[in-house]
Amino acid sequence: CINKATLKETRFYFADCRNSDVGKYIPACSAGKFDYNVDRAKKIISVNVSNSLRDQDYYVRLCHKWFTCEDVGAFAVIKGKESFKSVSLKYSQPLPCLCIEGWLAIPDARRIQLCPFENDTKVLWDNIVYSPATQTIAWEPACPVLVMVNLCRLMKSNDHCEDIPNSSKNSPEKVKYSRVDTHPRLCMKFTTKQGSWVKCPFAHGEFPAWKMRTAAAAERIQVFFTSQTKAQFSVLVCNRTQLASCESVGIHHSVSLGDSVSITMSQEMCESTICIQGWRTDVDYSVPLQICDIHCGFRGQTYSDGNPAKAMTHRVKSVHSLH
Ligand SMILES: *[C@@H]1O[C@H](CO)[C@@H](O)[C@H](O)[C@H]1NC(C)=O
Ligand SMILES: *[C@@H]1O[C@H](CO)[C@@H](O)[C@H](O)[C@H]1NC(C)=O
Repeated sequence: CINKATLKETRFYFADCRNSDVGKYIPACSAGKFDYNVDRAKKIISVNVSNSLRDQDYYVRLCHKWFTCEDVGAFAVIKGKESFKSVSLKYSQPLPCLCIEGWLAIPDARRIQLCPFENDTKVLWDNIVYSPATQTIAWEPACPVLVMVNLCRLMKSNDHCEDIPNSSKNSPEKVKYSRVDTHPRLCMKFTTKQGSWVKCPFAHGEFPAWKMRTAAAAERIQVFFTSQTKAQFSVLVCNRTQLASCESVGIHHSVSLGDSVSITMSQEMCESTICIQGWRTDVDYSVPLQICDIHCGFRGQTYSDGNPAKAMTHRVKSVHSLH
């Protein structure tokens, strides 16, 4: 007859192979042991099996760990009878979910998984794809990851990337934004528990960009836009209360490419923290560019396009702009 204590122990045996006293009597609990070396230049992982019990054959493979570990091709058998218990597996990308799985060639063998690149999170943000036909920017995780994605505006002054409103997506799957401006300062921000990464897919100048500039004469500020593609713009006068936020003062205009808009400024506005903000309205996601520190032309004429070297007048003062 079986007493209560034995029953309890038996259940325990099968539930927990990690208990070494228990595990060594149950073949399926013997996972063997392996270690590995990575040759990043040759993209090869060498696996060395150190302890495969009773000369059993040992299997190793590479897999991508999602819900289960999905096969990625490389697979090898290490013969238990051979003294040299080592094998090389080739990988293509050092993804954080790329794991080495090893198990003894017996039914229901326990499998060990080691993931050599588990901390290489930043490779996940590399595969951003832009499709010009739909103006869509998309990112798809190559590994399961808990991430918040935002579009953001990269600030020139401090390399901070300020979130574009209503662009936050919390998704373990594909993230897509349609009708996106291809401005070099429009970036994608990925935030995980480990930190934040910013990727700027249009930063290298191969996509059409637009520019905003202002010219001041007396109490009027003229705002112009140039663009390599057809575009519509909005202009807003705002009061910069903090570095990251600029509150509308209620002056707002729409501008077509090639036109300009003229804004009447009071002397008080010229000398305060007032900025001119402009963005594209023919897309759903655009970076607002900002020209601040506006010196109106009360003492002559000044122009600013954020680049004093190209300014057209002798009265240019220091210009701080974010485009
Ligand atoms: C990943 O980082 C953790 C914490 O720093 C560390 O314990 C672990 O060994 C690292 N993994 C690899 C494969 O380097
Ligand atoms: C801008 O904001 C500051 C601080 O809130 C305020 O003192 C100032 O009057 C504002 N300027 C304008 C022109 O609204």
